[in-house]
Amino acid sequence: MEKLRTLLSKTLVALSLASLISAVPNVTVVPLGSGCASYPGYDDASGIAGPLRVTVDSTGKEFDGFQFGPQFSTAVGGGAWGFMVIRPVANGTAELEPTPMQCANDTLQAYLDMGFVGVRWQNLIAAGTPAESVFGFGLPDLPDPNYHLETYQHVIDGEVQPGAYLGAVNVTTWGFNYQNFTETGEYYFLRLLGPNSNNLATGEPLNPGEFTGYIKVT
Ligand SMILES: *[C@@H]1O[C@H](CO)[C@@H](O)[C@H](O)[C@H]1NC(C)=O
Ligand SMILES: *[C@@H]1O[C@H](CO)[C@@H](O)[C@H](O)[C@H]1NC(C)=O
Ligand SMILES: *[C@@H]1O[C@H](CO)[C@@H](O)[C@H](O)[C@H]1NC(C)=O
Ligand SMILES: *[C@@H]1O[C@H](CO)[C@@H](O)[C@H](O)[C@H]1NC(C)=O
Ligand SMILES: *[C@@H]1O[C@H](CO)[C@@H](O)[C@H](O)[C@H]1NC(C)=O
Repeated sequence: MEKLRTLLSKTLVALSLASLISAVPNVTVVPLGSGCASYPGYDDASGIAGPLRVTVDSTGKEFDGFQFGPQFSTAVGGGAWGFMVIRPVANGTAELEPTPMQCANDTLQAYLDMGFVGVRWQNLIAAGTPAESVFGFGLPDLPDPNYHLETYQHVIDGEVQPGAYLGAVNVTTWGFNYQNFTETGEYYFLRLLGPNSNNLATGEPLNPGEFTGYIKVT
């Protein structure tokens, strides 16, 4: 019985690793540098790269190519923070209205209505706890890491892939996590699958139901 259980759990681990590998090809990640000059469409005179198309890539799901939009949480005491998310087509609304994005002042930014501070270019980050470094903005008083987003080149079998890929600490693979609340509807938030990102309860690389993909910038 004990043997069977061990075998079963080994099989499960092998299966989940296999699906992790098949979902995302064997990619070499090459840093492009941390400033806006490493983004597509950089303008030397203004120091700004944009407008940028920031899209879902290589999930193998129907929303590959979708652009990101904000999912706001209102912080206590005013101000806004939240996640950059994608919404599935299931509720018939298809893709979100694209949110303008650019790189300025060395960082990726989205044009967002930030509540009482108004509509502005808001820095985007990957932050939260080590296990949940979420693609978002204004995340309040969280423990580290608070990753500065960087761009990377993907090379597959010596072939440089078009576009730049978003990530941090040389990691460009993100986990997509489904949420569905009465107030917000359905969405997926992304967490960077960087160091110490294994699920804290199970020790597995991915959360239950989570799948992998990239964020592509063109
Ligand atoms: C991925 O590619 C690297 C370098 O090209 C190679 O060393 C490694 O064995 C490959 N891994 C797999 C799982 O194919
Ligand atoms: C640029 O970024 C720095 C550090 O992140 C910040 O202190 C400064 O206010 C920013 N400047 C603008 C114009 O947003
Ligand atoms: C990322 O990779 C580059 C080499 O490609 C290396 O120089 C750098 O130290 C790495 N950074 C981190 C945080 O691992
Ligand atoms: C999402 O939640 C709503 C209400 O909470 C429910 O009616 C709907 O069936 C859920 N959608 C899915 C795909 O589970
Ligand atoms: C459908 O998606 C939109 C965003 O595209 C969201 O505002 C709305 O709440 C969703 N509705 C349901 C029922 O999930």
